[in-house]
Amino acid sequence: MSINVEDYFAPATFNKMKAFADQHETPFVVIDTATIARAYDEIADNFPFAKIYYAVKANPAVEITELLNNKGSSFDIASIYELDKVLSCGVTPEQISFGNTIKKARDVRYFYEKGVRMFATDSEADLRNIAKAAPGSKVYVRILTEGSGSADWPLSRKFGCQTDMAMDLLVLARELGLVPYGVSFHVGSQQREIGSWDAAIGKVKIIFERLLNEDGIRLQMINMGGGFPANYLNKTNTLEAYAEEITRFLKEDFGDELPEIILEPGRSLIANAGILVSEVVLVSRKSRTAVERWVFTDVGKFSGLIETLDESIKFPIWTEKQGELEDVVIAGPTCDSADIMYENYKYGLPLNLASEDRLYWLSTGAYTTSYSSVEFNGFPPLRSYYL
Ligand SMILES: Cc1ncc(COP(=O)(O)O)c(C=O)c1O
Repeated sequence: MSINVEDYFAPATFNKMKAFADQHETPFVVIDTATIARAYDEIADNFPFAKIYYAVKANPAVEITELLNNKGSSFDIASIYELDKVLSCGVTPEQISFGNTIKKARDVRYFYEKGVRMFATDSEADLRNIAKAAPGSKVYVRILTEGSGSADWPLSRKFGCQTDMAMDLLVLARELGLVPYGVSFHVGSQQREIGSWDAAIGKVKIIFERLLNEDGIRLQMINMGGGFPANYLNKTNTLEAYAEEITRFLKEDFGDELPEIILEPGRSLIANAGILVSEVVLVSRKSRTAVERWVFTDVGKFSGLIETLDESIKFPIWTEKQGELEDVVIAGPTCDSADIMYENYKYGLPLNLASEDRLYWLSTGAYTTSYSSVEFNGFPPLRSYYL
């Protein structure tokens, strides 16, 4: 399949990024910050009742943190390292939620000492740590949700707990002197099935009602996580369609007086702003008569493309060379045979593609730089530039 760049970037934006790319050695990712600013506005406009906490894990670059801080974003933080980084950009502790349910007691203390007062949890052991290390803080409990089958990058098996346990934890939070603040979920990243939010919101409503009726606890917040779509090869509904439906689900369950709503977009804010530029190292065949060509490129699973694991995320790949296409296997440069990006899904690349030609991996702004290994086979981490 040949890629139409205009399905992903406005011509002026692409030309600007390409002109920049032409001046730089591969591999690297170039990110257009104006695209991120637009994506932020789009989410804010479509969910006017929600507070946005950018999921920093998607791309922790200072340039992005500063831009989003200026736009009024808050931040979903997963570690003391991310915390230090965003605080050094001028983000205040009130803008931060410690969203990782898996954390050391001393790291909870570190967040507390820095002034953070909002913590996610999904287990009793973690909740007790929070009560000791961050007394009086707000806690929200993450619940398990369905939706793994329809998310390109599922998240919900490792995190969250069943509804009954969530209620037990929120009651215990009050006993431990914490503020039982709300409920969170994440329906899976790049979630294609909008109905996944309906099921999750339904579970949240049960928790809100039961806690109020049975324990006199009035929860105040729903954190709906991420899962909103980026523009990859496999198409999704538009963000407007997501927003319209999710707003309807919320109003059906909670009426017009919604509790505080938090969103934690990562991928949908950042991915579409990036182009990862790589160079073809070799094109080869495994026998004289093999029909299949292998295209080896100077980026791979260990240098930014880990989300090609199980071929989960299918990035659009564009080349300057055009002409007849042939199916290829696309693999990275390292001495690890796991470093194959696409083998089952057949990408077509031009027959005349050769060493030193460039591949442009579109929609690669999120989960590329932050996932890149530091020195496998001596290759340095993926470089990034911000326009
Ligand atoms: C707690 C939490 N919030 C938000 C996100 C961001 O999700 P997405 O990139 O799908 O927007 C993640 C992703 O791992 C997460 O774990």
